[in-house]
Amino acid sequence: MNPLFCRTAGALDLLPVMVTPFLRISADVPRRGKIRKWLESLRIPGKPLVVQLMGDDPVNLSAAAEILYTDCGVREFNLNFACPSGQVVRSGAGGALLKDPEQMRRITAALREALSDISLSVKLRCGFANPVEMDGIIPAFEGLIDYMAVHYRTVGEGYRRIGDGLERLKRVVAFASVPVVGNGDIATPEDAAAMMEFTGCAGIMCARGLLRDPYLLKRLSGAECPDVEAGREAFFRRALEIAAAEKEEYWSRPRLVELARFVYGAESVRFRELIAVKDFTLENLLKIID
Ligand SMILES: Cc1cc2nc3c(=O)[nH]c(=O)nc-3n(C[C@H](O)[C@H](O)[C@H](O)COP(=O)(O)O)c2cc1C
Repeated sequence: MNPLFCRTAGALDLLPVMVTPFLRISADVPRRGKIRKWLESLRIPGKPLVVQLMGDDPVNLSAAAEILYTDCGVREFNLNFACPSGQVVRSGAGGALLKDPEQMRRITAALREALSDISLSVKLRCGFANPVEMDGIIPAFEGLIDYMAVHYRTVGEGYRRIGDGLERLKRVVAFASVPVVGNGDIATPEDAAAMMEFTGCAGIMCARGLLRDPYLLKRLSGAECPDVEAGREAFFRRALEIAAAEKEEYWSRPRLVELARFVYGAESVRFRELIAVKDFTLENLLKIID
């Protein structure tokens, strides 16, 4: 997600909780001011906030978490042991750590020791190369975390279609001693219900499905919502209005084009219409949106 997506979703009250994109902590811990500024653009007033951290160094990750705790009042943290990006994996962070359960345990224990009264969770993929790795991964978090979110693909599978995702999650749920939040390809309320029913997971998270249907989580809560197409239009219209009102923060062609690509999809007629607008003004863009 980008900050304009979060700002718009907040304004339309579409998210029950805000989980930030990962804050990557590598060799140096970012300065306090930089961390504060990063978080301010993602916070949704009045909503619970979970900050996701990614890195491979327990000391630096704990130091960053302490800044977020003391300076920003963050009380819920999630550790990313899932990201499959080549650059991240080569650096030994994100999904690469699935190969090293002991290091994941050291990192998780360091945060738990540094900040004992936080909610702490992890985001995993279902192994680095093979789902059977979960047998060694899950016990690494014993006694340290409140829940785990699990994307049913391995790192090696990237975003390829797989046939046995729900079976994999079911195994994880049966094996884990903490609640499991299931993740992977949830695009509709029916997908979410099928995942919960089949796997017994405690909750679901969705990423790409939410970008393509920003009302998806609201829909899942049973609230009355516009249909998917109308929801996209309502969302993008509101994003344009926010960007126009808070120009410095949000108005730029690349940012709006990125948001349109998320919401409508790069292949859609609407996206092509929007990027073809020559004079990229609110008035001209609103002429296209219903
Ligand atoms: C563009 C993009 C950015 C992502 N960024 C994050 C991230 O910062 N942290 C995270 O845990 N997962 C991130 N993910 C992974 C999603 O959370 C999710 O695990 C994955 O997309 C599968 O779920 P989905 O099928 O609902 O998209 C990202 C995915 C995409 C496509």
